[in-house]
Amino acid sequence: MGRLQDKVAIITGAAQGQGEATARLFAAEGCKVVLTDIKETKGTAVAADIGENALFVKHDVSDEASWAAVVDQAVTKFGTVDILVNNAAITFFNIIDDTTKSDLERLLAINVVGTYIGMKTVLPVMQKAGRGSVVNISSVNGLRGTYGMSAYDACKWAVRGMTKAVALEMAVQGIRVNSVHPGAIDTPMLNPTGEMTSVQMGKDFGIPFQRVGRPEEVANASLFLASDDASYISGAELAVDGAWTTGLMTNSQELDHVS
Ligand SMILES: NC(=O)c1ccc[n+]([C@@H]2O[C@H](COP(=O)([O-])OP(=O)(O)OC[C@H]3O[C@@H](n4cnc5c(N)ncnc54)[C@H](O)[C@@H]3O)[C@@H](O)[C@H]2O)c1
Repeated sequence: MGRLQDKVAIITGAAQGQGEATARLFAAEGCKVVLTDIKETKGTAVAADIGENALFVKHDVSDEASWAAVVDQAVTKFGTVDILVNNAAITFFNIIDDTTKSDLERLLAINVVGTYIGMKTVLPVMQKAGRGSVVNISSVNGLRGTYGMSAYDACKWAVRGMTKAVALEMAVQGIRVNSVHPGAIDTPMLNPTGEMTSVQMGKDFGIPFQRVGRPEEVANASLFLASDDASYISGAELAVDGAWTTGLMTNSQELDHVS
């Protein structure tokens, strides 16, 4: 018996990276998974590899009409939607002087509006069933500011904030809403060519664990929050970051620790 046995989940941005790892883990725990992404070839291949309990739907999270189509297809194929993982996002590096209004709007459309419309479209199905779990993927960038990432930070703080408000609104309806805050995770977003090693990136970023995270380690956090193991948890924020946002370590403290 899996931890998500016979549940149905929609996972956005599931063609690669953390979304793919989440879809694979959820399916291994007995869940029927609807994978969505703009990357059709990759997403179709991942769903085919998972097998008959997976469906891929091409979907741009910033498009409200395509959200309705995703939910329709999920309900038609699997009967309901118990879990939504709002994972799809894009990143952006530039200081504010070099960031245009259209850069910001593009990020907001996918990372913020996509997440909000995702909840808005799926929640009625959960409300009808009287249960559900939403996991919104924010970031450590939703817990602090990062030099050169003000537009992305704005998005990830927004995701964290809307999670708490919707958690309150849904509390009496049996629907839990939580946010996950990955640190630096070894996916195509962080390491597009795959050339950087986990330990080198961990060192470069000053991560106390001395390495970056694996997509499966974020998927495990989403699994916990999506499952009934988290039955009394809503509005929470779970950092999966190798203690990166915990506090400051000086270089000498790091050296003391390893010597
Ligand atoms: N990798 C990291 O270091 C890191 C750190 C913190 C937070 N995150 C967050 O984790 C989540 C997953 O990131 P990842 O590292 O797996 O990234 P990734 O780039 O490897 O995967 C993201 C997926 O989202 C898809 N996507 C992009 N725009 C889309 C759209 N408009 N509609 C549908 N799908 C779209 C992409 O095609 C891609 O398959 C994101 O929310 C990201 O912001 C990542």
